[in-house]
Order: sequence, then structure tokens, then C-alpha cells
Amino acid sequence: MKIEEFSMDSYDDIIALWKKTGISVGSTDTKEEIEKMVRRNPDLFLIGKSDEKVISVVMGGFDGRRGYVHHLAVDPDCQKRGYGKTMIDELMSKFRKMGVHKVHLFIEKYNKGVVRFYHTLGWDIRDDLIMMSYVPDKNLYKMRI
Ligand SMILES: CC(C)(COP(=O)(O)OP(=O)(O)OC[C@H]1O[C@@H](n2cnc3c(N)ncnc32)[C@H](O)[C@@H]1OP(=O)(O)O)[C@@H](O)C(=O)NCCC(=O)NCCS
Repeated sequence: MKIEEFSMDSYDDIIALWKKTGISVGSTDTKEEIEKMVRRNPDLFLIGKSDEKVISVVMGGFDGRRGYVHHLAVDPDCQKRGYGKTMIDELMSKFRKMGVHKVHLFIEKYNKGVVRFYHTLGWDIRDDLIMMSYVPDKNLYKMRI
């Protein structure tokens, strides 16, 4: 697998991959929103290709304080071959070079199985936090793609 920085040419491929792997795609995954993300974090938004086919994706983000990992996915036909680990290792190496102190990610409760994947990569569950969210514009958030 060859890792590259994401470009908008691969937008349809990553949406298809997220849908195929059961990742919820929503209002922040439209073309316009993904374009905003890639403009802010061009070197942290990665895809993995094999024979020119997109088989993995991960969106890294840095807000000036913390790093974030969003929407990691590996094509089900290519899972359990180390590609998920390779994508996270590459992203963490970029965060390390940037001097980022801590990186967060969120796992939906229906997807508890994936906790073991991150455990093997050295991530820890936080049980000292309560996650809260606020939606500034409910109509905007309702948008589906
Ligand atoms: C999670 C995901 C990216 C893992 O990708 P992958 O390429 O299969 O993972 P790897 O082959 O790199 O696995 C690395 C290690 O984690 C383990 N692992 C992988 N998936 C696992 C799972 N679902 N449960 C437990 N362990 C898992 C592997 O056995 C391997 O351990 P080893 O090195 O001791 O053999 C992939 O299963 C996926 O796309 N899932 C659907 C989307 C998703 O849930 N994304 C995460 C959103 S937070």
C-alpha cells in the first residue's frame, strides 16, 4: 500500500469506502466540508492506494492544541493485513514531528470492537471525561449526503 496526501479527486472513493465500512457520513462529509478540512490539514489527511485503488483513508486534524483522528477506514477486502496500523503510524509520526502533545479520537459505542485495535497501537480509553457536543445550527447538521 502506498500512502499519499488526499486530494479532492479521490472524494467519491473515500465516501464509498466510508459507507462500505459502516462509518457514518454526515453533514461534515459533503464536498464543501471535506474541502475545508483538507485546506486546513493538507498533510494530515491521508489515503492508502494499492494498484491505484483507494483502500484506506484517515483524516487527521490539528486545532493548535490537540490532534484528532477522524474516519479511519480500510477496505473490508484488505483488512487484517496491517494497513490500519500503517495509516495510524504514519499519522502519529506526523503529529510527533509537529510536537503535538496529545491526540484524541472518538469511537461510536456500536463499534466497541475497534477499541482493541487501538489498544494494540498504544491508545488508552479515557474514563475521566464526559464528552459533550453543541450543535450551533440544527438545520445545517441535519443535512445528509
Ligand atoms: C479498524 C480498522 C481500520 C482496522 O484496520 P486493519 O487494516 O484491519 O487493522 P490492522 O490489520 O492494521 O490491525 C492491527 C492490529 O489490530 C488488530 N485488529 C484489527 N482490527 C481489529 C478489531 N476489529 N478488533 C480487534 N483487533 C483488531 C489486528 O489483529 C492487529 O493486531 P496484531 O498486529 O497483533 O495482529 C478496520 O477494521 C476498519 O476499517 N473498520 C471499519 C471502520 C472503523 O470502525 N474505523 C474506526 C473508526 S474509530
